[in-house]
Amino acid sequence: AEAAAAELREACAAPAAERVVAELREACVAPAARLNEVAAAMEAEMRAGLREEGGSNVKMIISYVDNLPTGNEEGVFYALDLGGTNFRVLRVHLAGKDKRVAKRESKEVSIPPHLMSGNASELFGFIASALAKYIASEGHSNVFDDKQRELGFTFSFPVRQTSIASGTLIKWTKAFSIDDAVGEDVVAELQTAMEKQGVDMHVAALINDTVGTLAAGRYNDEDVVIGVILGTGSNAAYVEEASAIPKLEGELPKSGNMVINTEWGNFDSSCLPITEYDQALDEESLNPGEQIFEKLISGMYLGEIVRRVLHKIASQSSIFGNVSHTKLKTRFILRTPDISAMHHDDTPDLRIVAEKLADNLKIMDTSLDTRKMVVEICDIVTSRSARLAAAGIVGILRKIGRAVPGDGRRSVVAIDGGLFEHYAEFRKCLESTLVELLGEEASRSLVVKLTKDGSGLGAALIAAAHSQPQH
Ligand code: GLC
Repeated sequence: AEAAAAELREACAAPAAERVVAELREACVAPAARLNEVAAAMEAEMRAGLREEGGSNVKMIISYVDNLPTGNEEGVFYALDLGGTNFRVLRVHLAGKDKRVAKRESKEVSIPPHLMSGNASELFGFIASALAKYIASEGHSNVFDDKQRELGFTFSFPVRQTSIASGTLIKWTKAFSIDDAVGEDVVAELQTAMEKQGVDMHVAALINDTVGTLAAGRYNDEDVVIGVILGTGSNAAYVEEASAIPKLEGELPKSGNMVINTEWGNFDSSCLPITEYDQALDEESLNPGEQIFEKLISGMYLGEIVRRVLHKIASQSSIFGNVSHTKLKTRFILRTPDISAMHHDDTPDLRIVAEKLADNLKIMDTSLDTRKMVVEICDIVTSRSARLAAAGIVGILRKIGRAVPGDGRRSVVAIDGGLFEHYAEFRKCLESTLVELLGEEASRSLVVKLTKDGSGLGAALIAAAHSQPQH
């Protein structure tokens, strides 16, 4: 009887629901022509950002990393990784060209949510105390009794770097919002907090996770030229010719190169396919008007976009029953891993979709057609994300003349982040879109590589290159 009731409900509600989905599909379309416009706009913004400080929404931050790892790095280095919902301490033993990473240990700590919106000294105090505990657990039999430990700090937010090991926070992104840290030197904050905990460490490098991913990628493959994060947030870094950076002051680096952290998450353009759901999400976000590209692409937001679409359907039809009996009004209740699970459901009756809807949203007794519709919504939102991410990568490739007709060099894009690693449909769509945009021929020299733990290994590698002479 319940199934019959569901069917009846549906027969009346289906047209309204279908209309919402059709409108979504229409608003999210990103055919190749549109994506080429996005890539061109990205390239133009990148140039503007390189020209002068404040020249573009796309900040094009000078990382002060002018040499990428060679493989010869040796010694024991530490890394701190702060940027998502977790924070990690790592210890990496680099053993030179043949042995490479001889040992790698890490400890992950989840950040209590209240610290993400509290004050700076609390957050850095928490980090330093975790670091102190980690070091204490190493025992006495280590090599650092008489020298200072060297640390690479991966801080994955927009920072105006003032040197390889200092920089001021421009603004928070993702789920962080700690007002009194904005404008402050994050290394100085960390150093103060470490002193309070009695931790004696030298911060040798301050890097972004994209720069870490690029460095870790290069360590294993010398053709890596771009590092991308597709996780909670989204961003990319790449190797630029120093002479192509008008805003770079002083002497040009010997290598002739400079790694640029694009902060592409803040890209915005009238050619982006933006829906009413994106607008509402942005308005209600921690950072309205900012990180527009990131809000269309990254893992923090995809589930929330889908939730908003489902909520609209629920308000225009009775397909999900009474909205107030569901959790459809709860923001961020649907996470990207949930939509990934639904999207990949290959059971004939979409059992996993039914379970997710019931468990996460308290939507019961859905028909197979309704569940198929939910999968389609996940597909629309995720494909748009993957296609836009591909357009961003193509923008960078065109900027540096890689994987374009006539360029025969092998070019590798190192990518990290849960969205890329765990969401197979996303990854497939990203890869096929790259081929679609670059063409069969040119894309043959392009390789996309999952590069795990760039923000740990990469920070240790860059710390190694910039450590004090005692090592
Ligand atoms: C956000 C941050 C950026 C970081 C990215 C991925 O976009 O602003 O610095 O690289 O997330 O973690």
